[in-house]
Amino acid sequence: MNSSLFKRTELAAEIADKILFTSPTSASSSGLFLAAPRRTGKSTFLREDLRPQLEIKGALVLYVDLWENRQTDPGDAVVSAIRTELAKHDGVLKRLAKSTGLDKVSVAGTSFALDKLGLAQGISLSSALIALSDDVQTPIVLVIDEAQHAITTDGGTNALFALKAARDELNSTRHKGLRVVATGSNQDKLAMLRNSKDQAFFGAPLVRFPSLGMDYVKWFCAHADLGAPIDPDVVFEMFARASFRPEILGAAADTLRFSFGGATTDIAGRFYEEVALEIESTNKEAKRVIHSLTPLQSSVFQVLAMAGSDYAPFESKTMEAYQNAMATISPKSDVAPDLSNVQQALVALQEKGLVWKAARGVYALEDTSLGELLRLDAQSQGPA
Ligand SMILES: Nc1ncnc2c1ncn2[C@@H]1O[C@H](COP(=O)(O)OP(=O)(O)O)[C@@H](O)[C@H]1O
Ligand SMILES: [Mg+2]
Repeated sequence: MNSSLFKRTELAAEIADKILFTSPTSASSSGLFLAAPRRTGKSTFLREDLRPQLEIKGALVLYVDLWENRQTDPGDAVVSAIRTELAKHDGVLKRLAKSTGLDKVSVAGTSFALDKLGLAQGISLSSALIALSDDVQTPIVLVIDEAQHAITTDGGTNALFALKAARDELNSTRHKGLRVVATGSNQDKLAMLRNSKDQAFFGAPLVRFPSLGMDYVKWFCAHADLGAPIDPDVVFEMFARASFRPEILGAAADTLRFSFGGATTDIAGRFYEEVALEIESTNKEAKRVIHSLTPLQSSVFQVLAMAGSDYAPFESKTMEAYQNAMATISPKSDVAPDLSNVQQALVALQEKGLVWKAARGVYALEDTSLGELLRLDAQSQGPA
């Protein structure tokens, strides 16, 4: 199955070194944030390339994907990843149980003891990680995929604070170290996890995760197996137009492979055409959602897209900006933005999956590429 993936071993080795590096000048290595748009291969890279490299370099890797586990509270998802690892280390469990007076619990009660690994009750997240670290005697790397979800609930926010405490303790000279690697699809959101002093990852470096490049495209062209060669230069240009999403190339190749009785000539040309159709239909779906907005929702969305991380939804100058946007989008509308209808518009935008809200009422675009699409769309339509 993994032969269908392009390996990024060198990049993974380089990033793994950065993660495990112990800085002589900073007391605690803060971990790393990797940001890249949706569907560009972050999770695949973490699982298939980075994790093995970290393990080769001697780290114990714990992985939790907050996007896959959206039904679970992000705090519980993090705890459960740690709990699963602990279950593999008998000695750690016994020691932890002892330290919390749970040692009388029978073997059958082990799962009960594990349930106690909540954040506040029984054993704390940080003492669990410390016990684990002391047992394995290697650095632990906790990888949190789509970490921005952690700050959409109180449980998730608490888990991050607990991790900060664990990190500070484990990175002291007494232990082997804890690194937290977080990924996300939106820089603005990840920025919230590290920009303010009270945040768990204050100061952690944010790195733009590189999208798949020409080496991937060459690999794809060599393995596409369409019955005729395809030109990497042409495909690369289309891949860039597809916002570097491998699925678009994959889907076009599948369509061609499964089109029975089709012409067998100009296979390359037909492949390029299929890619163009795939790009078109992906954009169409996003545009359909954008076009279904009410004028006020559109205005709020636009203002948010323009303001980025400076967005303050209810400030008077933002209210003015909505008003101005409304005047362009729907000059005849007599709806005036006020606190309550702007609030409603934000809720509607969240429900449509366009806008994301942190627990503390900070907003961001769900996907930055939507903002780009909005701009292109406005250009193509001209002034209303
Ligand atoms: N290195 C790769 N080689 C081939 N296909 C890939 C590669 N990385 C990602 N893909 C494909 O691209 C799609 C999106 O990848 P994923 O890792 O889920 O992206 P993200 O986590 O950034 O949303 C998946 O279908 C995956 O199989
Ligand atoms: Mg992912």
